[in-house]
Amino acid sequence: MENKNENTMDKIISLCKRRGFVFPGSEIYGGFANSWDYGPVGVELKNNIKQLWWKRFVKQRDDIVGIDAALIMNPKVWEASGHLATFSDPLVECIKCHERFRSDDPNILFDHVSNKHPETIAKTKDGETQISGTGFGFTEPKQFNLMFKTFIGPAEEQANVAYFRPETAQAMFVDFKNVLQTTRKKLPFGIAQIGKAFRNEITPGNFIFRTREFEQMEIEYFIPKPSRDEDWQGFFDKWVEEMYGWMETVGIDTNKVSNLEVPKDELAHYSKRTIDFEYEFPFGKKELYGLAYRTDFDLKNHFKEAPYKEEEDGEAFWPHVIEPTWGVDRTVLAVLCSAYKEEGDRVVLKLDPKVAPYKVAVFPLLKNKPELVEKAREIYNDLKKDFTTAWDDRGNVGKRYYAQDEIGTPFCVTVDFDSLNDNAVTVRDRDTMKQERIKISALRDYLKEKLK
Ligand code: GAP
Repeated sequence: MENKNENTMDKIISLCKRRGFVFPGSEIYGGFANSWDYGPVGVELKNNIKQLWWKRFVKQRDDIVGIDAALIMNPKVWEASGHLATFSDPLVECIKCHERFRSDDPNILFDHVSNKHPETIAKTKDGETQISGTGFGFTEPKQFNLMFKTFIGPAEEQANVAYFRPETAQAMFVDFKNVLQTTRKKLPFGIAQIGKAFRNEITPGNFIFRTREFEQMEIEYFIPKPSRDEDWQGFFDKWVEEMYGWMETVGIDTNKVSNLEVPKDELAHYSKRTIDFEYEFPFGKKELYGLAYRTDFDLKNHFKEAPYKEEEDGEAFWPHVIEPTWGVDRTVLAVLCSAYKEEGDRVVLKLDPKVAPYKVAVFPLLKNKPELVEKAREIYNDLKKDFTTAWDDRGNVGKRYYAQDEIGTPFCVTVDFDSLNDNAVTVRDRDTMKQERIKISALRDYLKEKLK
């Protein structure tokens, strides 16, 4: 079972590279610290995801507005937020080879031992596998801060130290009053942001699952100061529903998603309650998204004076916060894993058309027949006005179908010799593989209907 799943991940990584979804970063220099670059097809998928999110949670709602803040903020932000003091993971070092790991994931430690020091693995009498004590072990865990340090200006001095943000969230707190003054929003309302975050992860890995540079889509949803637990829990539950609704919209298989109630003693320093939404990735069940009740922790730390009044002459207070958070790259990965199918000898990404990099591909049956190419070009140029459209004239039509299936293009349109007389084309459906003859004049409406 495990092997089959490992293979699935390898196959997805190889497809991503082969077809231009994701390349290893700085590959010609031997790669670089688990960094990855989105290629021409991958960037379309990722942008579609970000645009859908912005449309759903910002443009189509009256109670959420967006911002786009600086990546490097005043270091005082990170002092106030508690990140400088507490944003750390427990680190251990392998005594044999000095490689460093997060100590809170026993699987990673066990994999390291199995792969690098198999001689230290022993079996107990009843067949259980154990790491034997002889000459092997890890150092005691010590806390390692994940903040990415840099220097502002030419002098590398302590006074000029700054940090790349480890979450987009803090800007929504820091800008709270400015947003309030410019929008005159009343509680409950949210501030949303999409952008890069940086963490000096001890053990990045599993492709784009855990990297040191990644993107987040976050909402800080401000609510009135709750007088009873039910008050904030109502908002919390609503956001659980919203997050499932989102997963369905982008085609994440929600049968593979489960909620993990984070135990009290493992909560982040700012949280009173957190749910991790875990997805069954081929390498195991891991956090996809999170939802936290951050109380008034952040606003209180940033604003000495209470920043919000319901009425001009009312009493000022610090609103509380529900925070749904989504990793963009983990969304891409869960979408790819949900869509990846092998059917007979074809590999197909059954992507929801809303996120598919291309909605339709246009082919002239033969590349060396100018009358076919010309007609196909006309159709291609016309469709491009409404849909992200691919052009393919290489190889035979079967190979082109195969290639479009691999990148998840929902429809392929072929211009053949009959098209020159009957002004119709063959439209092939990615999922059913059925072919239909459609009049060119009706093609745009046909696709619009199908891609709705
Ligand atoms: N503002 C709250 C916050 O940042 P988090 O659980 O640390 O919470 C939120 O991160 C989301 O960001 C995660 O659920 C995950 O999707 C994504 N994420 C976190 N660390 C990541 C990493 N190293 N690589 C890729 N995505 C990551």
